[in-house]
Amino acid sequence: MAMLPDREFLNIVWLVLVLVNGTCQSERRIYPDLSTTTSVSHSAFINVNGINNSSGDSWNKAATRQLSQQRACHCCRNGCDLQMGNLTCHQVSHFTREYLADCSASIVSLNIVEGRFKTMEESGLLHGHYPALRKLSIRNSHLERADDWPAPKQLIELDFSNNSRLDFIAWNVFKQAVELEILILANNKLDRIPDVISMMNNSRLSTLELSGNEWNCQGNFQWVLTLHERGVLLNGDNLTCHDAGHKESWIDLSYSIIKRENNKKTVAAECRSRTSGCYCEFVSAGIGGRGSYTVQVDCSNRQMTSLPAELPNFTNELDVSGNNLTSLDQVIKYRNPPLKVLIADSNRIESIRNLSGSDFLRNFSRFSLRHNLITPSEIPLDDIVQVPSEFQVKYIYLYNNSWECDCNTATKVRDWLWKYHHVVNDSSHILCSRDGRKIPVLHLLPNQVCDDPNYLRNATSEAEMNERNISILHSIIYVEAAAIAVLGFKLAYDSWHYFRHGQLPWIATKLL
Ligand SMILES: *[C@@H]1O[C@H](CO)[C@@H](O)[C@H](O)[C@H]1NC(C)=O
Ligand SMILES: *[C@@H]1O[C@H](CO)[C@@H](O)[C@H](O)[C@H]1NC(C)=O
Ligand SMILES: *[C@@H]1O[C@H](CO)[C@@H](O)[C@H](O)[C@H]1NC(C)=O
Ligand SMILES: *[C@@H]1O[C@H](CO)[C@@H](O)[C@H](O)[C@H]1NC(C)=O
Ligand SMILES: *[C@@H]1O[C@H](CO)[C@@H](O)[C@H](O)[C@H]1NC(C)=O
Ligand SMILES: *[C@@H]1O[C@H](CO)[C@@H](O)[C@H](O)[C@H]1NC(C)=O
Ligand SMILES: *[C@@H]1O[C@H](CO)[C@@H](O)[C@H](O)[C@H]1NC(C)=O
Ligand SMILES: *[C@@H]1O[C@H](CO)[C@@H](O)[C@H](O)[C@H]1NC(C)=O
Ligand SMILES: *[C@@H]1O[C@H](CO)[C@@H](O)[C@H](O)[C@H]1NC(C)=O
Ligand SMILES: *[C@@H]1O[C@H](CO)[C@@H](O)[C@H](O)[C@H]1NC(C)=O
Ligand SMILES: *[C@@H]1O[C@H](CO)[C@@H](O)[C@H](O)[C@H]1NC(C)=O
Ligand SMILES: *[C@@H]1O[C@H](CO)[C@@H](O)[C@H](O)[C@H]1NC(C)=O
Repeated sequence: MAMLPDREFLNIVWLVLVLVNGTCQSERRIYPDLSTTTSVSHSAFINVNGINNSSGDSWNKAATRQLSQQRACHCCRNGCDLQMGNLTCHQVSHFTREYLADCSASIVSLNIVEGRFKTMEESGLLHGHYPALRKLSIRNSHLERADDWPAPKQLIELDFSNNSRLDFIAWNVFKQAVELEILILANNKLDRIPDVISMMNNSRLSTLELSGNEWNCQGNFQWVLTLHERGVLLNGDNLTCHDAGHKESWIDLSYSIIKRENNKKTVAAECRSRTSGCYCEFVSAGIGGRGSYTVQVDCSNRQMTSLPAELPNFTNELDVSGNNLTSLDQVIKYRNPPLKVLIADSNRIESIRNLSGSDFLRNFSRFSLRHNLITPSEIPLDDIVQVPSEFQVKYIYLYNNSWECDCNTATKVRDWLWKYHHVVNDSSHILCSRDGRKIPVLHLLPNQVCDDPNYLRNATSEAEMNERNISILHSIIYVEAAAIAVLGFKLAYDSWHYFRHGQLPWIATKLL
């Protein structure tokens, strides 16, 4: 009966091979390229008998299991040290295929300190096969990209830290590392990280350290907050992100990721409970050199007939265009903070008089009311154009509010538009209708619409005043010209008189 060779037989074959091989020593074998290192450490064969299974954690079990299978892996010369499956290398720049073929299978813990390779490809590590690897650590190294890395299923600890140039890690490799318990990525140059927890589909992680990187705030760090709440995150207070949206600004805006994610979470909950189905976007923006949070709430086109009673905290921008609103009075109650931007186009608003005197009206930066039904008399014209400080800008949009071309429009409103055209941003597009015609309000003439002689007089009086001013100016110019002419004439006469009679003018004799 043809039987497969059993284990005993294999071991004997292997032993013979080792004996044969062992005699011709290791000149043929190429060990990690350690030509640049100086430290010397000769650790010889691993003593399988020396293993003691007193402490029973998974680590030691793995090590023990592995070592009992271990072949005589000649390791390592300068800079590397292999003890009980624990391979530690200083300043290594390359692992050869031959070395890894011999040894990689027995490595339980791989520690590389001050590695000289820039990529995983360069390190040669990917040529190895690591069925026993439990811990992988690459620290204080020149590593710049980890496009791929050895991640056997049973990896428990991954430590890539203090690699000041490391800006890329192949995150999808985490899908294989389903047993990971410790993940240390501190002090690198990483800017993005996906939700590795859901990638690994595990909740075993007991230690996570991410601080000292260049995380971009645009990323989603809600999972980090979840881990922080579970007590898994190390150094959470020092975990910051940078606002890449403001990269051009010279102020470096950094935010505490935990605080920011906490606020985000609160806002998301408030968005659900306070607005019915609006979309709330959390943004951080640098105001006055400090990181601050703002929320933009988009409630457009939702058939709303009234404004939400309350908005999420930090809301400073609200878009309610395309609804059936008739009043904006609720805006006065949004105090925390008051709105800076309110877009209420295409509603059925008839009046904003009630907003008069409110913080919102004083302090908004953009207020858009196009396509509504607000006549000029329902707008607090004086309040709405007040700018609280010279550094602030205000824009109002009033296009298409079905204005009639009446005398008030032609006089008071027209003057107001002329005066505040820098505030009423669409002033030149604002029309009023008269006999079915649309006329730009800025060019509406009082005598076209004002029958009341009182209006006419007042409206024309301004023009008259202007004309009068101009004629006064002209008069002054005439008088001055005449005076110059008289002076010239007198000078000519005096000169003629002097040459003719040798006599100075009377005033000159007095002066001499
Ligand atoms: C095993 O551990 C015990 C107690 O920790 C110790 O006394 C003993 O010497 C160890 N055996 C070996 C072979 O190291
Ligand atoms: C190690 O533990 C196993 C059981 O887990 C036991 O059978 C064996 O005797 C132990 N070896 C030593 C040296 O203590
Ligand atoms: C492996 O070796 C390094 C350096 O010799 C040591 O710091 C580390 O604690 C060891 N790890 C284990 C699991 O034995
Ligand atoms: C990282 O570097 C800092 C200072 O450069 C040092 O204090 C720290 O111990 C290092 N951490 C590791 C894990 O090497
Ligand atoms: C995640 O794990 C659960 C059980 O732990 C399993 O039911 C589910 O299918 C896994 N999901 C993925 C995407 O692997
Ligand atoms: C956070 O960083 C500051 C300085 O950057 C340091 O003084 C402080 O000790 C750090 N906190 C923790 C918990 O590491
Ligand atoms: C909004 O958030 C700020 C800062 O966290 C807090 O002080 C304030 O009480 C919050 N306001 C409301 C209405 O929740
Ligand atoms: C809102 O107005 C549209 C027409 O503009 C109308 O069809 C709709 O029924 C109104 N919805 C409510 C809730 O009033
Ligand atoms: C303005 O406020 C008064 C009193 O609260 C209210 O009766 C009126 O309907 C409001 N006007 C508008 C247009 O909302
Ligand atoms: C108006 O806005 C400025 C800055 O945007 C703010 O400092 C000020 O407190 C606001 N005033 C009111 C009354 O809300
Ligand atoms: C003006 O607004 C009304 C609704 O108030 C809208 O039906 C109409 O299309 C708008 N006209 C223009 C020119 O935008
Ligand atoms: C016109 O001017 C007179 C006084 O100059 C003033 O009493 C009156 O209110 C003005 N009328 C209008 C419509 O402005």
